[in-house]
Amino acid sequence: MLQDKIEQYSQEIQQFAPTSAADVEAFRLKFLVSKGIVKALFEEFKTVSSDEKRVLGKVLNEFKQLAERKFEEAQTSFSIEVKENQRSEGDLTLPGEGFQLGSRHPISLVRKEIVEIFKKLGFVVAEGPEIEDDWHNFSALNFAPEHPARDMQDTFFIKKQEGNDIALRTHTSSVQVRLMEAGKPPFRALMPGRVYRNEAISARAHCFFHQVEGLYVDENVSFADLKQTLFHFVQELYGEGTKVRFRPSYFPFTEPSAEMDISCTICKGAGCNLCKYSGWVEILGCGMVDPNVLENCGIDSKKYSGFAFGMGVERITNLKYVIKDLRLFSENDTRFLSQFETELL
Ligand code: PHE
Repeated sequence: MLQDKIEQYSQEIQQFAPTSAADVEAFRLKFLVSKGIVKALFEEFKTVSSDEKRVLGKVLNEFKQLAERKFEEAQTSFSIEVKENQRSEGDLTLPGEGFQLGSRHPISLVRKEIVEIFKKLGFVVAEGPEIEDDWHNFSALNFAPEHPARDMQDTFFIKKQEGNDIALRTHTSSVQVRLMEAGKPPFRALMPGRVYRNEAISARAHCFFHQVEGLYVDENVSFADLKQTLFHFVQELYGEGTKVRFRPSYFPFTEPSAEMDISCTICKGAGCNLCKYSGWVEILGCGMVDPNVLENCGIDSKKYSGFAFGMGVERITNLKYVIKDLRLFSENDTRFLSQFETELL
């Protein structure tokens, strides 16, 4: 009879007192799997008369719940026991697992190296916001109102605002303005940071990259100071004997302006792919701060003069480590990043 069987198994379940995880598993196999007793009793239930069904339906359901509850209780108590066993049996003489250290990003390494060189010359680090207004990114820096750099093609605008649009900074020269507006000369500062330009992403261009800009303003600062400072920088960064040359150029915020090339770090001037067989590679833009910029920042341009320079950190890094694709810098591929593990600057 179905009722007798239910009573008999209920007793067995109530008395079930497992002493190991294996007992719990045996219980599960006996009662709860699809070929187990609970299922079998439900099958048998289908064959009884409808009078009996009325009585036994409830009894059978309670039986099922009893079996499940007992199993869950047994299971939790054994899993705790297993953990405690493991803890006490742990072998304390085994070597520890240790931390796996990451590596510094090549851009951080080179940025730090640049900063260290200029720190020894008395330059301090200054930072500014990445979201800038038109005044700090363009107008104060002597960009004419119709200058193409303000165009949608170059700049990521955030908000159009009458006379003072908000955008992602396109260069760290904006920090120059903030620094000069906030203080009094002399200034000797280095401005590292991330900048944004609306360009298609390729191996040679990205919509964001990193710059380090330098600014030196004092009485009697001359182009000779600029040249000597940058010459010293290059000797420190790429080694004694690296040659420099200056080519006339144009930036709205410097007058005169120049671009500086160095003798190719790879072929030492003999000609290679990197320098396109010219022996020279361009590394930065520079010049004497335009008097208009000084005046825009409230500095007397008759008394003070200054020089500024700006370089792309990615480019400087390429010349050090020969990285062919700019995109590697922002993809976080550990196969690339782990190559810098030994560089612990
Ligand atoms: N801001 C310029 C650029 O982004 C670089 C530069 C800085 C040139 C300072 C001259 C002086 O290209």
